[in-house]
Amino acid sequence: MSYDPSRPDVIADPYPAFHVLQAQDPAHWSDILRGWVVTRYADVKTALHDRRLSSDRITPFVAHESVRESAHVKELGRIAGRWVVFNDPPAHTRLRGFINTAFTSRAVERLRPRIEAIVDALLAAVIDRGTMDVIGDFAYPLPVIVIAEMLGVPPEGREPMKAWSDELALFIGSALGTPDKYERASRAMTGMCSYFREIVGARRRQPREDLITALVDAEQQGGQLSEDELVATCVLLLFAGHETTTNLIGNGLLGLLRHPDALNALRADPALIEPAVEELLRYDGPTQAQVRVALEDIGLHGKTIRAGDRVFVMVNAANRDPARFADPDRVDLTRADNAHVAFGYGAHFCVGAPLARLEGQIAIAAAVRRLGDLALAPGDLTWLPSMVFRGVRSLPVTFTPSRRTGYAAGP
Ligand code: HEM
Repeated sequence: MSYDPSRPDVIADPYPAFHVLQAQDPAHWSDILRGWVVTRYADVKTALHDRRLSSDRITPFVAHESVRESAHVKELGRIAGRWVVFNDPPAHTRLRGFINTAFTSRAVERLRPRIEAIVDALLAAVIDRGTMDVIGDFAYPLPVIVIAEMLGVPPEGREPMKAWSDELALFIGSALGTPDKYERASRAMTGMCSYFREIVGARRRQPREDLITALVDAEQQGGQLSEDELVATCVLLLFAGHETTTNLIGNGLLGLLRHPDALNALRADPALIEPAVEELLRYDGPTQAQVRVALEDIGLHGKTIRAGDRVFVMVNAANRDPARFADPDRVDLTRADNAHVAFGYGAHFCVGAPLARLEGQIAIAAAVRRLGDLALAPGDLTWLPSMVFRGVRSLPVTFTPSRRTGYAAGP
């Protein structure tokens, strides 16, 4: 078979193609992607743990003959090359050490009241309308407000951040069919960096209780974090902190709305929210693929992945592998054994997982509890044309309008 991630039916529902690959060609060479596609759960976990597969896809990318003359690609590579996610040890270990503590379960639990207040305010703004776009009105603003506040970005910085971040997603998300994506992404990267450089300068002069100040402190205490790395880390956190969480909330609510049994189970027992979010992450997670580059020849299912080849490690496919999960295409909020890999696995396991989980739980629980008769509005959904990100552009829903009081004022 030939796996074509740019086909509209595959973008809308990649899972049938994943099942075919798992059964017939578990180490699949894709001419379209010019890389290997790995889809079985056991292979995905092994690959994410395998030191022979490098996370540094920036160095080979900027050196590639088709782009190496581009100033835009050079600039993108210069910054993204300093992101923890694109580094192998020892740089990876050092960079990760600077951000780990801010995102532990204990640290993010302290954000619960603020996240609840933002969720309340976003729902209050739509509750008497009887309709909303889950993405634009709810799932997008929530994580961007949370991560911007954590970092110390003022409210007026959110709009430019959104615009830059959307452009950057074209590069990170391997956008399909956008010819000027590197130019657009590099302008956005430059814009974001100079914005963060200003905040970093301000925090040096006047420290505050925010994550940028904590990073500045680490840098000043000789923590071996250069200013470029500091700024690059801010860009990464801003970016990673919301593109994915938006789609956790969007895909999660869509999964519930398409599986009324699960939605009703959650309505009947709100305490199910934690396993529900795990099941929704497994069922249709926001990240489809991790990309790795082979450092040496590796044998897999009778094929040879050559040194230098790219490997697309498909976590969303792994999460639907029938060899690992019983009845994998069903949403089962009480699934007992749910060791999904939606947040990756191994050394690069998502730093922001506790925050994403908390935001997802609070947002999905509140939407289900407060929006009576929540239902999908008629019409087709448009999925992001990306190999990496999985989510819809907008998700119109209807519900019974309510004029409940007790909500906080706007976020
Ligand atoms: C539902 C939401 C999220 C999903 C599905 C997700 C998914 C992932 C995955 C799959 C990886 C592993 C990448 C790899 O192996 O190459 C990762 C890494 C990472 N994520 Fe997330 N993420 C989410 C939310 C967040 C949030 C909220 C933040 C921070 C505010 C964040 C920050 C990071 C960082 C910094 C890394 C790099 C870790 C490393 O390289 O050691 N993520 N994420």
